[in-house]
Amino acid sequence: MKTALKTFLVIIITSSLFQAQELKLPSNPLKGRIVFEEKGCIVCHSLNGYGGKIGPDLSRQKYYGSFLQLGSVIWNHIPSMNRKFRELKMERPQFSESEMLDLVDFIYFLRFLGEPGSVANGQKLLSAKGCKSCHKIAGKGGSLAPDFTVLNKYSSPMYLAQALWNHGPLMQKKLAELKITVPQFSGKEISDITAYIRQATLSSAEFRLSPGNPSKGKFIFQQKSCGKCHGVTFGEEKMGPNLSKLNLNSSVTEIAGQMWNHSPRMIKYMKDNSISYPIFKENEMVDVISYIYFLGFEDKPGNRRFGENVYIEKGCSSCHESGGKGVGPDLSSSSHLKSGVQILQRMWNHASKMEDLLLIQNDEWPTLTLDEMSNLYAYLKSKNK
Ligand code: HEC
Ligand code: HEC
Ligand code: HEC
Ligand code: HEC
Repeated sequence: MKTALKTFLVIIITSSLFQAQELKLPSNPLKGRIVFEEKGCIVCHSLNGYGGKIGPDLSRQKYYGSFLQLGSVIWNHIPSMNRKFRELKMERPQFSESEMLDLVDFIYFLRFLGEPGSVANGQKLLSAKGCKSCHKIAGKGGSLAPDFTVLNKYSSPMYLAQALWNHGPLMQKKLAELKITVPQFSGKEISDITAYIRQATLSSAEFRLSPGNPSKGKFIFQQKSCGKCHGVTFGEEKMGPNLSKLNLNSSVTEIAGQMWNHSPRMIKYMKDNSISYPIFKENEMVDVISYIYFLGFEDKPGNRRFGENVYIEKGCSSCHESGGKGVGPDLSSSSHLKSGVQILQRMWNHASKMEDLLLIQNDEWPTLTLDEMSNLYAYLKSKNK
């Protein structure tokens, strides 16, 4: 009886922690690029140097944060953006919900692609990491392992990461026999090594990978048993680390490197639990990693009570009085504040009117910190059940 009650409580508590995923995973995170160009963001912002110079280059700037956190960055810049819109006599774009989601997906995704590798650094790394004691490149090196020329047709660093992963168990066995520690990767080292291999092997044919399909990656993640050991939602604890807690300020190859660094222990856990080692084909590893990367896009639950304070302190309540007495609509009875995407979309679309009113009232734009935005959302959502 007692244990039954306990189990029951555990189920209630844990199921309330596992928020259902609210944001739909994109199948092509680059889709938002179209929105970015169509809505004129490109007129003022460049991406990798192409585009306008009025605002900052959004691919150089690093955006770390979940959907709502990125939302707060956009929100805080609205007044200065609006000033430019007026100056340039540009119409201020309005968004549909799906356009808003595509756009923020895209901004979130920008740093996933990483920076190009450095050939010179890659050459140094192959020696420093001891790869050449087993592998040959440009005619020099060991012969215990395949000549790196086998990799020459792959232009993407993710192919190197995937090949490395697929051959991991055997390679690590050889390393253990020779008492060499498993090489570790950090930063853009995998990209650097790829750049060097590509150059040294004079590759002709090039196979490129797609940027990653998070929606498909979710499926592969389960199919390859990753989900047996890794929780992916807040509070979901399993044998391996919860991947939504990963520090995801990294590019695809950095995450692949992290996976590799942890692979010796993963291999051991897999053996102990009779889980077969996952092998990736074609685009599968990129897809899985893009899925893991998008775990950081989902917001952690905010604090409703803190959110109520934000609502009052930032002056939202003074215009959005309950009962519809304020200049703005009563947000507690609004029927379209059911998701973060809806709230951000509405806030963006109404921002001009808000700004005009604030000007008349001689009030400042209510800037929101990253946490304030998510707490505010928790509060608004709780009022709009
Ligand atoms: C008319 C010019 C203009 C347009 C069009 C424009 N922006 Fe901006 N944007 C700016 C300026 C100027 C800033 C810098 C504001 C500041 O420093 O406060 C900025 C800042 C930003 C920032 C914050 C950058 C940072 O790191 O501080 C983001 C994100 C952003 N804009 C996204 C967008 C998106 C998305 C669009 C398209 C819907 C867009 N902008 C359209 C001018 C523009
Ligand atoms: C102790 C010897 C040894 C060292 C050191 C070593 N490897 Fe390997 N590597 C192997 C063996 C053996 C294989 C083949 C495994 C197999 O066939 O499954 C392999 C396979 C690979 C593959 C897959 C090649 C293919 O055919 O697709 C890649 C990529 C790779 N290694 C990269 C590296 C890199 C990068 C380093 C240095 C950081 C490195 N290796 C260091 C032994 C080694
Ligand atoms: C048998 C259990 C098991 C399976 C299956 C498994 N992992 Fe792991 N994974 C672990 C453990 C345990 C660690 C931590 C290892 C360590 O601390 O070195 C880990 C670490 C990781 C890390 C690094 C986390 C960090 O903190 O940096 C990533 C990324 C990862 N796994 C991804 C995957 C993916 C993707 C799959 C499926 C292809 C997978 N894992 C399958 C047990 C597993
Ligand atoms: C100066 C007055 C004013 C302030 C302060 C203000 N708003 Fe508004 N808000 C408005 C007005 C007016 C509208 C309706 C605009 C329209 O219809 O175009 C609106 C619309 C909205 C909407 C869209 C509602 C819907 O149902 O479509 C949201 C969401 C919103 N505001 C959130 C906020 C939040 C959050 C704050 C505090 C950070 C805030 N507002 C502060 C005046 C204000």
